[in-house]
Amino acid sequence: MAKGSGCSHGLGLGLACFALVVAMAGATQFQVGGANGWSVPGASAESYNDWAEKTRFQVGDTLVFVYPKDKDSVLLVEPADYNACNTSSYVKKFADGDTAFTLDRSGAFFFISGVDANCRANEKLIAQKGGRWCI
Ligand SMILES: *[C@@H]1O[C@H](CO)[C@@H](O)[C@H](O)[C@H]1NC(C)=O
Repeated sequence: MAKGSGCSHGLGLGLACFALVVAMAGATQFQVGGANGWSVPGASAESYNDWAEKTRFQVGDTLVFVYPKDKDSVLLVEPADYNACNTSSYVKKFADGDTAFTLDRSGAFFFISGVDANCRANEKLIAQKGGRWCI
């Protein structure tokens, strides 16, 4: 009897795990900047937006920003503040050094470095479903 209930309990857990895997299938995790992480792009490096433009983001995908938390941060901003590199006005600030941000809706997301000079040196990214963006 004890054996029987343990078995059905195990089956229930198995189904729960399976459902979770199915729900997560299709979501992709992207590390922004690849191995260099979230940093000022090198002179010969492709810009974040060239990368974003050819990357087919889907709703539910996750962007991972890796950066030294004592030196940099990630700001989610409005388009005007993206253009102006206005780091004093932001929707959300992330400064934990390893930020996972899920694209939880369609439309564009605007990210800039929390360091003005870095933003002006092109440490900025527009991520949009389907990889297309315009500004
Ligand atoms: C930055 O944003 C703040 C708050 O919206 C605003 O007061 C300020 O004028 C902006 N600065 C620039 C340079 O756009």
